[in-house]
Amino acid sequence: MKRQPRSSPRSAKRRTVSIIGTGSYVPEKILSNEDLSRIVDTSDEWIITRTGIKERRIAGKDEHTSDMAAKAALKAIEQAKIQPAEIDLILVATATPDMIFPATACFVQQKIGATKAACLDVSAACAGFLFALEIAQQFITTHTHETVLVIGADKLSSITNWTDRNTCVLFGDGAGAAILRHRGPGTHGVISTHIGSDGQYTDILFMPGGGSRCPITKDNAHLHLQTIHMSGKEVYKQAVTAMLSAAHKALDQAGLSVADIACVIPHQANLRIIEAIADRMRIPLERFYVNLDRFGNTSAAAVAMALDEANRTGRIKQGDYILMVVFGGGLTWASTIIEW
Ligand code: ACO
Repeated sequence: MKRQPRSSPRSAKRRTVSIIGTGSYVPEKILSNEDLSRIVDTSDEWIITRTGIKERRIAGKDEHTSDMAAKAALKAIEQAKIQPAEIDLILVATATPDMIFPATACFVQQKIGATKAACLDVSAACAGFLFALEIAQQFITTHTHETVLVIGADKLSSITNWTDRNTCVLFGDGAGAAILRHRGPGTHGVISTHIGSDGQYTDILFMPGGGSRCPITKDNAHLHLQTIHMSGKEVYKQAVTAMLSAAHKALDQAGLSVADIACVIPHQANLRIIEAIADRMRIPLERFYVNLDRFGNTSAAAVAMALDEANRTGRIKQGDYILMVVFGGGLTWASTIIEW
């Protein structure tokens, strides 16, 4: 039987924002581990054993982050049964914007016809979707905006060093979206959110080139500075610590325990990270939603895509408590508990 959360003024006050529609999109092209073994010195066996990834999707040359984001958004809009013109705010979480400016959210606005919306991007790497969800929630709770489109979208293939086997096997492209709306006090909706960052670790997961600190020039173009640089082992360690702490903070705020959670939707970076979290939280792995075997790590899109799949396939049902928990470059981490 489902437990009632302990009464908490904070969670009661904040449970006024609901997700009324979700959507996702992945490009058609599949890149399998076998395909990768023809590009770098790797194997299907190594990739599956170390990461759990079997294949990933790769966007076409002319398919940009905003194209994938717009396709995911239109599906969420359709499911929410709203019109694009009702959207007050578009937040796109991405590490691979179409351009440094204008915001990718502006391109999405134009593509979906959300003429009334204010638009901005959120930069929190793989944790971006939950950061954007929290920003949306704050806008809605303070009644400045009623309907917010939150998107996580990334074209990591555009910043992948395809000669580096340490990183290129991990990533894929895709987008996920959610429509958030003010619901008034009621049972369903976002119960608690926790976001955090630690700038001490900016050097373990980053893209050194292409910003104002290190523009790409003809002299450094061969150095792969405009690609993901990662200390895999250090990221792994920090990811487990940060996600565990974030998950427990969201649970404490919500007045829930791990036994109450019907489904955990974690960042889809590596199955071993998810297994470590499941083990330490004493939650059976079956309660975690995992799709990284089919899509790899799609950064800000990952948890948004998984949420949409879990929603559309009936993996999460009305009344379920779901926990989403993510980490990313920065370091950044975030967790959200929703009563679905
Ligand atoms: N194929 C075959 N061998 C490989 C490959 C590969 N694709 N990649 C690395 N190796 C080799 C290494 O060279 C090393 O060989 P050596 O022992 O001869 O030096 C050996 O395999 C072991 O390498 P490790 O780095 O120790 O492997 P590990 O077990 O740590 O797994 C991995 C590496 C999968 C990257 C792991 O550390 C990890 O998942 N880290 C977290 C990554 C992550 O979550 N990143 C998030 C990025 S999110 C974002 O913001 C985009």
